[in-house]
Parts: sequence; structure tokens; C-alpha cells
Amino acid sequence: MIMESKIVFIGAGNMAEAIVSGMVEGGFCAPEKVIMTDVRPERLADLAKEYGVSTSTDNRTVKNAEIVVLAVKPQMMLDVLKGIAPVIRSETLIISIAAGIPAAKIEAVLGGKCRVVRVMPNTPALVGQGASAIAAGTLADEADLEVAEAMLGCVGITVRVAESDLDAVTALSGSGPAYVFYLLEGMLAAAEKMGLDKATARTLALKTVEGAARLMEDSGETADVLRAKVTSKGGTTEAAVCSLDKAGVKEAVVQALLAAQKRSIELSHG
Ligand SMILES: NC(=O)c1ccc[n+]([C@@H]2O[C@H](COP(=O)([O-])OP(=O)(O)OC[C@H]3O[C@@H](n4cnc5c(N)ncnc54)[C@H](OP(=O)(O)O)[C@@H]3O)[C@@H](O)[C@H]2O)c1
Repeated sequence: MIMESKIVFIGAGNMAEAIVSGMVEGGFCAPEKVIMTDVRPERLADLAKEYGVSTSTDNRTVKNAEIVVLAVKPQMMLDVLKGIAPVIRSETLIISIAAGIPAAKIEAVLGGKCRVVRVMPNTPALVGQGASAIAAGTLADEADLEVAEAMLGCVGITVRVAESDLDAVTALSGSGPAYVFYLLEGMLAAAEKMGLDKATARTLALKTVEGAARLMEDSGETADVLRAKVTSKGGTTEAAVCSLDKAGVKEAVVQALLAAQKRSIELSHG
């Protein structure tokens, strides 16, 4: 899909940059079609230089946009929506990447006529390896979901979900990279205790995480089957897994994700 529409990004932070970079490099749209807005002129100047996009410190530039991507922090969203509500056209497609702001809220503040698609990306999007879930608001149609899929597809994979599943998605893949980093913190602390050189340990640990994910994807096996395959009786892996089981790590991970989902629900109602 090649976009000819004018696309305005409100909030030129990390996520917006990742998506714009992927879009421009992936040929989704020409840089001249993109306008990025932010409160920081120096940030906008850097982005204009890097990607050849237009920029503005005035969010009301959305008035001529066919697509608006809301990429400010959730706590800024209400002010931003109120600011653009008087000028936005009802035909504009709104794509929101903000965590925890329901589509109905965005629709209501913008006058009840805009089509809204919500997206929950994750930080590996910054290196083109994101996992984004996409959900339609009340008025968004198939074509709108396809636009969001094509856009987020420039920085990784996309899946469609019902909006009611976005809190679970936030807990799984939105916050998910942090769980992997947490595991890596432990693995690398152990490597240091065992006297391995830092750089060597980092290289081995990172390839292990990446390789394990690739093995599971390519083999189509479940995680428990693959784990059983590398766990021979009386061996080193069994010693490690017994230690994890004794500490209740698997149940702690389950509880951690449920806590993240609960927090996401609280934030969306806050
Ligand atoms: N990072 C993630 O892992 C992740 C994952 C999923 C979803 N998201 C969502 O993505 C969105 C953006 O996250 P991010 O990490 O890219 O945040 P970020 O780097 O803080 O970017 C937000 C940008 O918006 C600017 N801004 C603040 N108020 C504004 C206003 N009124 N008008 C225009 N721009 C304004 C901010 O400037 P100042 O810094 O000066 O305030 C900042 O440059 C958030 O809603 C977040 O929930 C992020």
C-alpha cells in the first residue's frame, strides 16, 4: 500500500520517530506527505533533517490531514484532543498509539464523527521488530484497519484484536520487552558471578533469547515441549528449571501479567 494521504503525527517522540522512519524507508509514503508536530522545536528540526518530513509546533495543522496519528503520552491526550477538536474534519482517520485511552473517549472529544483505530505497539518497533495489536473503534471500517496495518507493518508484525483485548495485549506484548530484559538482567548477573567476560556474556545471552524465539516460531512447537527437549534427566538444564520451579517463577510471571492487565484497566478508566 502506498499512501498518498497527508499524515500528521501529533507528538514526535520515540514511537512516532520509529513509525515515520519505517514508513519513509519502507516506501509506505513520501516524506512530503508527513507532518510531525511537537512542543520541542529542536526535536522537530532534527526529525526534518533526518527524514525530510515537514514539522510544526501547532497541532491545528491537522485541519488538512487525511490521517492523524496520536502519539503523545496518555496524560497529555485530553488536552491535545481538545486542542484539535475545533479544526479536525470528520473524514479524518485517527490512529491512536496511546496506551489506555478508549476509542470512545477519543471519538467523543472529537465530536463523535471521526473513525478511530487504536494500536498497541511495543519498543522493538524502534528497530523494526515491533509487535502491534490493532483494534477498531466504533466507526472505523475494514479499509481503516488496513491502513493501520500497513503503517505499523513498516516497523514489525501486526495482529487484529477487539478493543476489549487491548489491556491483555498491553500486559503481554506492550510491557513484554521489559520481562525479557528482566530475565536478561538475571542471566547477565549470573554470568558475571561465574566470571564470564561482560561482552562475551552479552553476545551469548542476546543470541540465546533471539534464537529461542526463532526456534519456537519455526518449529511451531509449544514452549513446554521445546523446554522438555533440552531438559535431560539429571542434567544442567534440569538443575536450573528445578531451581526456577522451587522459587515459583512461572506463577510469578502469570501474576505479573495479570497485574499489568489490571493496571491497564485502571488507567483506561482513570
Ligand atoms: N514506548 C512504548 O513502549 C510504547 C508502547 C506502546 C504504546 N506507546 C504509546 O506511544 C505514545 C508515545 O510514546 P513515546 O514513548 O513515543 O513518548 P515520548 O517519547 O514522550 O513522545 C511524546 C512526544 O510528544 C510531545 N508532546 C507533549 N505534549 C505535546 C503536545 N501538547 N502536542 C504535541 N506534542 C506534545 C513530547 O514532548 P515532551 O517530551 O517535551 O513532553 C514528546 O516529544 C504514548 O501514548 C505511549 O502510551 C508507547
